[in-house]
Amino acid sequence: LKVQIHSKWEFTNFVCESLDKDFGEFEYCFIKSVNRSYKYISGKYKLYRRPLTKLTVNTALLKRFNGYKPFLYNISVDICKFYKNPKSNMVMKFFFESYTAFAKHNRTCPINNDIVLDKLPASVMNHRFTDILPFPEGDYLIETRWVLDGTSRAIVKSYGTLS
Ligand SMILES: *[C@@H]1O[C@H](CO)[C@@H](O)[C@H](O)[C@H]1NC(C)=O
Ligand SMILES: *[C@@H]1O[C@H](CO)[C@@H](O)[C@H](O)[C@H]1NC(C)=O
Ligand SMILES: *[C@@H]1O[C@H](CO)[C@@H](O)[C@H](O)[C@H]1NC(C)=O
Repeated sequence: LKVQIHSKWEFTNFVCESLDKDFGEFEYCFIKSVNRSYKYISGKYKLYRRPLTKLTVNTALLKRFNGYKPFLYNISVDICKFYKNPKSNMVMKFFFESYTAFAKHNRTCPINNDIVLDKLPASVMNHRFTDILPFPEGDYLIETRWVLDGTSRAIVKSYGTLS
């Protein structure tokens, strides 16, 4: 017996919020539906505090039950160490690989450029969530915080439905 899982990821919302406007601000952040099968998210963050020699990225997965609740992953990664050695954190690598091909910024430290995500399609998430790691159906939120010196400077929230 061969069990096949046909799940599909759809972005439902994409929200970017700067919590420290001296640190940086989002120039744009949106979700676009080109047609039924092609939807993508794009965003650009203008980094004012640069060069940055240190940045912690906290990525948490939440699933909606009665409100969004933490689900399986909540990890913090020193992004400069991670750039040097991506294999140091396999979970982060999993999330990170989803968007590296669509990240139009330099992935080097010190960080000295704006952070740009260009047209990341839902199909990439499909592959991540259903082919590599089968996840249960439902509504998800991938929350990413950019933290410096223990303070969140920006939050990016990607909402989606796996059906
Ligand atoms: C959706 O748009 C993309 C990009 O323009 C195109 O390649 C694809 O064929 C379109 N799909 C459908 C079903 O129209
Ligand atoms: C993830 O962990 C961090 C650090 O422990 C915490 O501040 C944050 O609230 C957690 N995120 C979620 C979504 O639970
Ligand atoms: C990436 O780094 C190179 C060399 O430092 C620089 O010329 C280029 O403008 C940078 N790219 C971006 C998108 O900031």
